Amino acid sequence: MARLDLEKIRSGLAGLRIGTEIDYVEELPSTMDRARERLPSPGYLIIAEAQTAGRGKRGAVWESPRGEDLYFSFLTGPLDQRASPFAITLAVGLGIAEAVEALTGVEALVKWPNDVRLKERKIAGILVESNGDFSEGVVVGVGLNVNRRTFPDELREKASSLALITERRFEREEVLLRLLQKVDARIREFEERGPGHIVRALNERLALLNQRVRIGELIGRVYGVSGSGALMIESDGVITEIVAGTVEPIV
Ligand code: BTN
Repeated sequence: MARLDLEKIRSGLAGLRIGTEIDYVEELPSTMDRARERLPSPGYLIIAEAQTAGRGKRGAVWESPRGEDLYFSFLTGPLDQRASPFAITLAVGLGIAEAVEALTGVEALVKWPNDVRLKERKIAGILVESNGDFSEGVVVGVGLNVNRRTFPDELREKASSLALITERRFEREEVLLRLLQKVDARIREFEERGPGHIVRALNERLALLNQRVRIGELIGRVYGVSGSGALMIESDGVITEIVAGTVEPIV
């Protein structure tokens, strides 16, 4: 199975804040844990070919087979009051969606707060963790389905990959570089200007907009993302701002 060309990655990341130090491993439990041990080291990036205990939101397993997809975590710099891990997830998701759309030519949307979707299928997930002290920065983990063509039964209806959507294979180095360039730019913008610009761009790319959804006990219509990054759900003329949870479409 082809390994990533690390030299290509190093030179492509020159000048970015992400990737000032890069670790590349064949296999480990989760890139999240390895990166977390390195806090605070802004720009540290760890990429794995496979994970034996890859994790997603709410303790879900993130399937991480070898050689076809991308699994990585990086560390941000210190975040100020405006930059909660919650809002940084949106900046990262926006950057990933922009990169994926540029690579595939297919419209990429963000399903609040941490999924990136193509043609109503999830192709990437984002996980943000911290040691509790945001001034040390946070760990941002990304899993992106690039060339994988098979999924376990329970994911088959919901997940996809760049290769399945476009019917062609992608060079993983190119995908990683495009992704990190966009994500780096969006995080920088977020840190310098606050969440306003990110939220405006996100509202142009919001999956399930105007659709009926369930989120926990609440049923309503997706109205948009608020200035602080919360999801606004409209129900009987009342807007409720949601700060955590999984949005499920009602079909
Ligand atoms: C989600 O549930 O959507 C978030 C998935 C995040 C998966 C990535 S893969 C790289 C990093 N290491 C992990 O264990 N998880 C994240």
